[in-house]
Amino acid sequence: MADKTSGRTPLMAGNWKMNLNHQEAVVLVQKLAWTLADKRHDYSAVEVAIFPPYTDIRSVQTLIDADRIPIKYGAQNVSTRENGAYTGEVSASMLAKLGCSYVIVGHSERREHYGETDEWVALKAKIALKHGMTPIVCVGEGLAQRREGNHLGFCTDQVDRSLGGLTATEVAGIVIAYEPVWAIGTGETATPQDAEEVCAGIRQQIETSYGGPAADSVRILYGGSVKPNNVAALMTEPDIDGALVGGASLHVDDFAAICRYYDLPVL
Ligand code: 13P
Repeated sequence: MADKTSGRTPLMAGNWKMNLNHQEAVVLVQKLAWTLADKRHDYSAVEVAIFPPYTDIRSVQTLIDADRIPIKYGAQNVSTRENGAYTGEVSASMLAKLGCSYVIVGHSERREHYGETDEWVALKAKIALKHGMTPIVCVGEGLAQRREGNHLGFCTDQVDRSLGGLTATEVAGIVIAYEPVWAIGTGETATPQDAEEVCAGIRQQIETSYGGPAADSVRILYGGSVKPNNVAALMTEPDIDGALVGGASLHVDDFAAICRYYDLPVL
């Protein structure tokens, strides 16, 4: 069984990034559901969510609804605007209508390649909440800040600005993902101690800005080369409430194993 004593339900989130068309998405979700059903996975003990590209979401919704699969899903991004003449954008109300529970906002790839600022991320978090979805707000330092030893301050500043305008009650219900940029897709993982240092620092920052109840209930995930061989050790840390998984979430056996991290050895 999952052995977290924090009272926060662990969340294993699979960010597919720009991979898999809608047909491939259906196959992966079916296989994942079967694999977890075989192991009698208790979704109330460890929540499982997937983040396909926009074009897959309708197909994923149809399958999940029809087969009553307890896997949640969400989008990798959302517009800051409600609707209107914003070519190429997808609105929060459209995603809510498709049954999305979550929206990833401020992923480092969007910050790096599409110039997203903390202010934009805050708007995206706010609009997701307004439409009944939970934002997963991503933060994380680059190699330069890590080398300078400034990683914690960099991340807590990002948290402060990326949550600008949210109330303490809203913050209590969101998810924050700490993803050090140097660990994404590189095979380099932060050690459990490195990850815990920043996740604990983020929780402390939430307590300072929003109070104890928000800090106790906000879920903080670690992301960056999470695999079956490192997830169990990461999950022993008290301030890590789950993982945001990229590459390994595209492989059914790996992602299912990550969802059942408590069956894996702590290496
Ligand atoms: P990898 O697990 O492929 O390093 O990706 C992490 C990530 O960016 C998840 O959002």
